[in-house]
Amino acid sequence: MNATILSSDEKHYPVLLNEILSIISPQNGGTFIDCTFGHGGYSRSILKYPKTKVIAIDRDINSKKNASDLLTINKTRFKFLNKKFSEIDKLDLNNENLRGVIFDLGFSFSQIKNSDRGLSFHSKGPLDMRMGINEFSADEVINKLDQKDLELIFKYFGEDSDSKKISKNIIRERKKNRINTPKLVEIINYSKKKNNKKTHNATKIFQALRIFVNKEISELIYGLINSVKILEKGGFIVVVTFHSLEDRIVKYFFKSLSEKKKISRYYPDFINQKKILELSTKKPILPSETEIKKNQPSRSAKLRYANKIQFFENFEEDFIKKFQNLLQIESLSKKL
Ligand SMILES: C[S@@+](CC[C@H](N)C(=O)[O-])C[C@H]1O[C@@H](n2cnc3c(N)ncnc32)[C@H](O)[C@@H]1O
Repeated sequence: MNATILSSDEKHYPVLLNEILSIISPQNGGTFIDCTFGHGGYSRSILKYPKTKVIAIDRDINSKKNASDLLTINKTRFKFLNKKFSEIDKLDLNNENLRGVIFDLGFSFSQIKNSDRGLSFHSKGPLDMRMGINEFSADEVINKLDQKDLELIFKYFGEDSDSKKISKNIIRERKKNRINTPKLVEIINYSKKKNNKKTHNATKIFQALRIFVNKEISELIYGLINSVKILEKGGFIVVVTFHSLEDRIVKYFFKSLSEKKKISRYYPDFINQKKILELSTKKPILPSETEIKKNQPSRSAKLRYANKIQFFENFEEDFIKKFQNLLQIESLSKKL
């Protein structure tokens, strides 16, 4: 479960909202891109500051209805775009003073509650998992890819230690019948060496499938890279993650861009060492006890941020190389 949660009292809680507002300082005005609009918690709060503008992005067209009030009230200050955030560099920014880009990764409560999407292992519906603007569904992944490919997806995107056994049992079972959500949960349950006491047995495999179906690795990698390209100097990139794989990518990105690097082998070192981002803290910001009490699923949230100090070309090469293996696993989808 992710940042924007309607918790048991069905109230909407955008995770780490106050912390984000104090980082981006909307009272000073400027344009902000809310890359993951969802229920619009962040956009709505930023727009309360009169000198701000918000460009909201969400790949799920259903989230546009959550933007209807903002679209009528703030015609000149708010825009909603049904796009993927990896394409953030293709937006028509018209010399906007871009002060911040915010990512709140994963899926929203309404997405997981919609059983047709098959995002939850409690769902009785078909395997789907598409968040919006997709090329294939989880049904095709589970019923078409071969055993080795499924094993790689489960191992690297889910970090599940029983990946091999689960993928073998999927291949065996799908010869009898097409696998749907309840059947997949049943296969995972009987394949597990020991029952997981803390989380549901299927958590990691469902996470892996969701990441693969929505190409979340390249979305995150290119979302971050392209944000740096379009941000004004002094502007902030803020990212809220919910699992270790996402956090590892974000942590490495901020660390690597905030270290001095050679920009060209032709210059002497004293003008050749530059960094792009400034980190205020290496440690992530976590939700307070009070926030977790009010909104349980926020407990796994981690917020990292940095601000842009300067820019130079080809900064992304090292970052892409570092996660090349994950990008290769993502490209197994070409077989579908
Ligand atoms: C956790 S919710 C965001 C909640 C939001 N912060 C709020 O306050 O309501 C994540 C949203 O991001 C969207 N999303 C996820 N990956 C995306 C991507 N690559 N591009 C655009 N939107 C994406 C999902 O469709 C979902 O609506």
